Formats: sequence, structure tokens, C-alpha cells
Amino acid sequence: MTGILKVDSQRLTVHDLSDIENRSDAVDGQDVIEGLSSQPKFLPPKYFYDQRGSQLFDQICELPEYYPTRTETAILKEFGGAIAQTTGPCEIVELGSGSATKTRFLLNAYQSAGHPLRYLPIDVSETALVESSKQLLLEYSALTIHGLISTYEPALAKLPAAQLPARMICFIGSTIGNLQPHEYSAFLDRMARSLRPKDYFLLGIDLQKEVSVLEAAYNDSRGITAAFNLNMLRHLNYRFDGDFDVDCFAHVACYNQESHQIEMHLESLKAQTVQLKALGLTVRFASGERLLSEISRKFDLEKTAQTLAARHLPVVTTFTDQNRWFGLLLCQRSPDRC
Ligand SMILES: C[S@@+](CC[C@H](N)C(=O)[O-])C[C@H]1O[C@@H](n2cnc3c(N)ncnc32)[C@H](O)[C@@H]1O
Repeated sequence: MTGILKVDSQRLTVHDLSDIENRSDAVDGQDVIEGLSSQPKFLPPKYFYDQRGSQLFDQICELPEYYPTRTETAILKEFGGAIAQTTGPCEIVELGSGSATKTRFLLNAYQSAGHPLRYLPIDVSETALVESSKQLLLEYSALTIHGLISTYEPALAKLPAAQLPARMICFIGSTIGNLQPHEYSAFLDRMARSLRPKDYFLLGIDLQKEVSVLEAAYNDSRGITAAFNLNMLRHLNYRFDGDFDVDCFAHVACYNQESHQIEMHLESLKAQTVQLKALGLTVRFASGERLLSEISRKFDLEKTAQTLAARHLPVVTTFTDQNRWFGLLLCQRSPDRC
């Protein structure tokens, strides 16, 4: 296994693959240069997640307006047993694992079914991954964890050989909605290549619904989502020696009904110039100019199932809530046809 070994104990190993990623990029932050030099400007959502960003995201999940987490949690709680029964003994790989709060409902189900517990979390946020892994080990005495601090692609390429009869890759929290349509297609192809025939893919997707419900979820009254959005600029400041004045930007989130996506922006409150010295980058913002920091696509259950089936990932079971606000799709990798 390559990468820097961060933790190595009997039940927990954590590898940091960021050095490998940086070597493969021309410069760490090439994506920042590209996004801030584009018109309109954008930034990859992974830059939300430093230690503070991960903590703010956990606070968002607790907000009354933020229905996705509680709805998906209820689905996992109700149907975790059915998932464990379908897959049988199976190791759980989780992309963008964060605090792994919802993962516990899967682990509970596998534990109750008497299956061995093996978990492979993948996340760019080192603190979220290491802290949640240590906590999980205290809660589940039979659990072993192999964590990868990394973006998705390098981690999928470096997954260790499976130790259990099956593997299930989980991508929950509707994080897939943060991918642009072209990234989404490439991601599903990558997923199919990462799984052996009969392995599983568990996908959580936020579904299309009333605009007022959607917009409230991204404009909470306590301003936590705004703080989360603006934290991206703080992260860039210390990571790339930047001088963003966070008070000179505002959080904006609205639903694009044509594209079926929430679009989250950072709006410049005045004409200003920002420097990111470590990247040799000077960026000019006009007053009122918006930088796209995240899209959060809202899906249609049937269309998504068709897309998955066309990508060798047919849906075995669809789980949803009474309102059909959120969908959890259990897919099984089909064999390639000649
Ligand atoms: C929306 S949160 C979801 C967390 C958790 N899965 C849940 O459902 O509550 C996204 C998580 O993915 C991680 N993440 C974001 N972009 C990533 C990337 N490109 N590669 C790996 N992890 C990423 C973040 O650090 C964060 O923990």
C-alpha cells in the first residue's frame, strides 16, 4: 500500500494518499487555479471540508430545515436489516464518510445479522476520518477499519483486496448530487469498474420536491450553511497563502428548476482583488459577481435507476420514505457482456 501510514494498530489502519495525488497534479491546487480563472468562476466542493468545514457540515445535518439527513437516517434505520440480508457478509466501503453517523445503522444491521464487520472509509477530511474511525472502534468491538484520506478516484484505485465474500461501496448523503453531469457519468463508470460482478453499490439520492422545502434547506435561519459556504474561502487562505476577506462575500443559494439543482454561490460584495500567493494567482471580482461553490442535484428515482442499469449497476431494491423525499438504491454489479 502506498501513501503515508497515519495510524497503524491492530484494528485500524489509515493511509494518507494526498502525497500521491499531489504528485500526479502539476501543482497542488491546480483545480483552484482553473476554477478561479474560469468565467463564471467556480470551486470544487471538496474545499469545504477542512476540520471546521466538517464540523459545520455536522451542524447542518442537525438543522430543522435540513431534511436530507434525518430522512436518509430514518430509511437506513428501517431498512438496514433488509440491506444486510440481501448482501450477506460484506465489507462496507464508504465514499465521503465524514463523521460516519448514518453508517452506524448499517453496522448495527450487519452486527445483528451476525456478519463480520469491516469498514473502509474514504474522505478528504483527515480529522473527520480519523476521529470517526477511532470512535467507531470504541462502539463496535468486532470492527476492523482500513481508512483512506483521499479524493474518490485515487482511493478507488488503491482499495486493498477484499477480505470478505462481497463488497458494498456506499455513497450516501446525496453527495453524488455535487458532481456535475459529466462527472456523474464518469463516476458511475468508475464505480462499475471498481466492483466485481455481484458486488453492491448503495447510493443515497435527494429527490425532486417543492422549491420552498429545497431552498429552506440551504438557507437555514441560524446561518450555519452560510458559515459553511464562506469557510471555503478561509480554507483557501491558509492552504494557499491567500487573502480573501471573508466579510466581503455573501452566501447565496437558490434552486434552478431547469437543471433540478440547488446552486450555492459566494457573491462578491464589492469590486476586489484577491491573491493566492502559493498558487501565484491574482483574481479580480466585480461587485455582485458570483462564484459557484456547489451544485446539489435533485434526482428522479426512475430515471436514476435507468441510468444505473445502463452502467452495469441495476437496482436490486429501492428504499424511500413516505413523502418520497429521499431515495436509497441498492444496486448489484452485473457481469459485463461480451
Ligand atoms: C455532504 S458530506 C456527506 C457526509 C456523510 N457521507 C453523510 O452522508 O452525512 C460529504 C463528505 O465527502 C467528503 N468529500 C467531499 N468531496 C470529496 C472528494 N472529492 N473526495 C473524497 N471525499 C470528499 C467531505 O469531506 C465530506 O465528509
